[in-house]
Amino acid sequence: MITRFAEKDRYNAVAAGLHWLIAALLFAEIYVGWTFGDLERGAARDLWFDWHKTLGLTILGLSVVRLGWRMASPPPPLPARTPGWERVAASLSHFGFYVILIGLPLTGWAAVSTGRAALTSDMMSLAGGLSWPLLPGLPLTLHEPMEGVHELLVKLTYALVVLHVAAALKHQFLDKGRMAGRMWPFPRR
Ligand code: HEM
Repeated sequence: MITRFAEKDRYNAVAAGLHWLIAALLFAEIYVGWTFGDLERGAARDLWFDWHKTLGLTILGLSVVRLGWRMASPPPPLPARTPGWERVAASLSHFGFYVILIGLPLTGWAAVSTGRAALTSDMMSLAGGLSWPLLPGLPLTLHEPMEGVHELLVKLTYALVVLHVAAALKHQFLDKGRMAGRMWPFPRR
């Protein structure tokens, strides 16, 4: 059951809609990342990788929009009873999510821009036959470090997702706060 929250205590429809859209794309992107990572070089891997790049850049665009929206329209205050340590944990994890949502696509894009693709073109392929510019001016020596940071951020993503879901379940069921209502995207009737 989703408890009614006063409008001022809820994320607005744009923030909540983007939250769930980005969450769904993030899960799909991780699955695509695992899949192409396990394939041998060839047409199937290229296709999955094109989807990886396309979804990743879409997540980057949507996350920048959501960050801008958050700055223009700040989130609702946490309930007054929220203890200090939970406030700090919430701020840190929200910050961490922006680090991965922006850092993962940028490091992936930088890794491709300094890899094999950069030897023959200044563009990379996306899904549906589209192409997208490589990041210009990056030394090829950055390729391995960028891949390394990308993989590190993937691990940070797993940790953040586990913590975030555990916190949401705790608020929803143990604290009886029914916090999920704060992130419900549709107006309550
Ligand atoms: C939020 C966006 C993204 C997420 C969640 C994500 C996630 C992942 C995952 C789960 C893997 C597999 C890691 C493994 O096998 O251990 C991966 C690998 C990779 N991703 Fe992404 N990725 C994102 C965006 C991008 C973008 C936009 C690009 C390129 C334009 C990209 C390029 C790569 C590359 C080159 C690898 C292979 C790295 C390696 O072999 O070490 N990623 N990514």
